[in-house]
Amino acid sequence: MTATAPTFRARLYALLRYSDPTPGARQVRVAHLIVLGIGLFAVILLSVDELDGQIRHVLRIVIWTVTFLFLIEYLARLWVAPEAPHYDQDSETGARLRWAVSIQGLIGLLAILPAFMFFGGYGITGSDAASVFCILWIMKVGLHAPAFSTLFRVMSNERAPIASVLILFAILLMMAATAAHIFERVRQPEQFGSLPNAMWWAVVTLTTTGYGDVVPLTLGGRLVGSLLMISGIAVLALMTGVLATGFAQEERRREYLRVWEQVARVPLFASLGVVTLSEIVGKLRTRYYPARITVVRRGDAGDSMFFISSGEVEVRLPNGGSVRLGEGAFFGEMALLERQPRTASVATTKPTTLLVLYASDFYEIASHIPKLAEAVEVEAKRRREENLERQTAGRR
Ligand code: CMP
Repeated sequence: MTATAPTFRARLYALLRYSDPTPGARQVRVAHLIVLGIGLFAVILLSVDELDGQIRHVLRIVIWTVTFLFLIEYLARLWVAPEAPHYDQDSETGARLRWAVSIQGLIGLLAILPAFMFFGGYGITGSDAASVFCILWIMKVGLHAPAFSTLFRVMSNERAPIASVLILFAILLMMAATAAHIFERVRQPEQFGSLPNAMWWAVVTLTTTGYGDVVPLTLGGRLVGSLLMISGIAVLALMTGVLATGFAQEERRREYLRVWEQVARVPLFASLGVVTLSEIVGKLRTRYYPARITVVRRGDAGDSMFFISSGEVEVRLPNGGSVRLGEGAFFGEMALLERQPRTASVATTKPTTLLVLYASDFYEIASHIPKLAEAVEVEAKRRREENLERQTAGRR
């Protein structure tokens, strides 16, 4: 019993991990999202006061059921916390405590707070209680968004330009609010009589929202408004540019790490020095393919070559035969070397991870690293001869 318990706990940990790519964990995530969706839907419906008493009763049962499912989930996650690799220095209790105070743990705890309300004898009645559930549960949806951590990192990396744009926003806001206050306060004392009131108009205008509840009437006020609207577009464009560049850079860094982990499996790269390798890694891209997907079609123009970092592909040769290529092999080089259409179709036989090298990068690398170019050329030559041999054997 004691021998099997840790294995079960490790399996459960893998199933509950949000980033686990296995089908089982994916199913658990889908089930979790469905339960969450049902819970949120029930909560939203319950806030409609005109609903029939019978329906409200059913909705309350649904909400309690979802709450108890979340309670079970919380206890399970707490139990499996010591399995997490980043808590392996802690004792079991220490790991659980650290998980409990992590963002994930706190969101989980907040989501089950209503269960304690239930034990305390409270009922869910009006829309107030429903809105509490809504706020607590909607946070759980965020746990399913893998890009959240990227977002935080981008915000942290780009904090200096973001701060500059925000400061620019504040300067424009205060200048426009003060100018509008000076021009408009006599004609519209209620809307522009004080700086906070004028600032409300400035925020609505600067963000290009334009509710239209407060409108400048004097010529000066309108001029300020026009300038503010144009500045608003510029400030938003700046912010978009900063965030988009930050995301692209972060993605490139992650891709670099992903590729770095994969290149070790390709023998062709194994003998290269770190500097040469880092140049190639920067140019490779990872692509995941499920089984039975055609990666390269015979006769198509060739714009890239591929290295197999895991999985297997089948090369369907023109004479009807086929060759299987496994981890570490490469394909798609013949079209690049001979600048001709693809000589064969290549499809995955099982889930496969490929490293893609685009033609322009291939030619650049080939000119820098003759050893690599030579190895690829030798293999291409061997394949060409093999295909010719097969073709002539087929004709005979
Ligand atoms: P390309 O012609 O660009 O696209 C199809 C690819 O299949 C080809 O490059 C080679 O990489 C690969 N290929 C062709 N013939 C053989 C072979 N006999 N053995 C292994 N791979 C091959």
